[in-house]
Amino acid sequence: MNQGRGTPARADGDPSGTAAFADHPFIRACRSEPHERVPVWFMRQAGRSLPEYHRVRGEGTILDAIADPDRAVEITLQPVRRHGVDAAILYSDIVVPVHAIGFGVDIVRGVGPVAPEPFRSSADLDRLRPLDPDADTPYVLETVRRLVAALDVPLIGFAGAPFTVASYLVEGRPSRDHGRTKALMLGDPTLWHALLERLTDIAATSLLSQVGAGAAAVQVFDSWAGALTPAQYRRFVLPHTRRLLEMVGETGVPRIHFGVATGELLDQMAEAGADVVGVDWRVPLGRARSRVPAGVALQGNLDPAVLLAGVEVAREAAREVLADNAGHPGHVFNLGHGVLPDTDPDVLTEIVRLVHDEGRVDGGDGTSADGRR
Ligand code: CP3
Repeated sequence: MNQGRGTPARADGDPSGTAAFADHPFIRACRSEPHERVPVWFMRQAGRSLPEYHRVRGEGTILDAIADPDRAVEITLQPVRRHGVDAAILYSDIVVPVHAIGFGVDIVRGVGPVAPEPFRSSADLDRLRPLDPDADTPYVLETVRRLVAALDVPLIGFAGAPFTVASYLVEGRPSRDHGRTKALMLGDPTLWHALLERLTDIAATSLLSQVGAGAAAVQVFDSWAGALTPAQYRRFVLPHTRRLLEMVGETGVPRIHFGVATGELLDQMAEAGADVVGVDWRVPLGRARSRVPAGVALQGNLDPAVLLAGVEVAREAAREVLADNAGHPGHVFNLGHGVLPDTDPDVLTEIVRLVHDEGRVDGGDGTSADGRR
């Protein structure tokens, strides 16, 4: 895979992959710099929609597969090879750091993260000691290093945002209403902020270690932040996410900040310090753009369910996403949320081809979308 700009980022002394990929359309789009075509990757591109994933995934929990760099490297590379996407995302999970420090959380097939003893009181803060990446998650760093040497596209590292990870630890399992999480947040703000502070430190340490090993960009997944009112988000979440993004900002790598059903929070997600704000399918990109300051890029936002309706429907919907963006620089094409397990991988490959063929950016090569100077 190591053709083209495949010089391993670390070879020239650059601790992150950013410098090696400074001219890559994905990195330029993340920075809202002129980019001549629209880059594309898919959340959850590594995983259950691919038959080759099932062949190497193995028995046991996904955390076992993540802890095995041979498998984690191969699974990360699979969608890059198959679809020709413009970025790889590390095969890992948002609960890996809290699992590694021994909080007591596992991932159950078909369910998601489960903590048999959920976070309940201040005594549980002791179960959230600082992360030591070299000692606690050496396999993550080994996987990142091997990937950076093998890839010819940027590698995205990631972490769960403090709110979304807290929701799993407090609920003990995936929840629709996040009732216990909100009860703790509103009923005991002091404990809430102490919990989010710990999770912020853990996420920052994890992201900094991934960038140190060569990740060229990072994504913070606040998947469930859309459960909050704007006022709740501002008081109970924004200060922590801002601190997290600030700490990671010191590395200079682009920071993508993603959530689902966060249409009413897009302004605050940008305010938290993101270079790129992820948009789900509920808000057209043109409208999303009016909610974030100029210079903040957008990522999204094809409805993942549309891909189940067949290739022609998917192609038309992808064209609509491009039309909604209207050639604006600073667009990273993606789904509005992760690839659904039943998705036909060939439809994903076709979407990559369409975005590469038809995704034009105003000013990318000095011309407007229709070729005028
Ligand atoms: O391709 C990629 O995007 C990289 C890998 C990745 C995984 N999890 C692997 C995974 C990423 C980026 C994640 C992040 C993650 N994990 C999020 C945020 C993204 C989102 O979807 O909003 C969340 C909420 C989790 C927690 C989690 N882990 C859930 C809800 C599940 C699904 C459980 C199930 O089986 O239905 C997981 C497990 C998981 N993580 C799978 C994969 C490929 C599927 C299970 C498996 O293969 O064993």
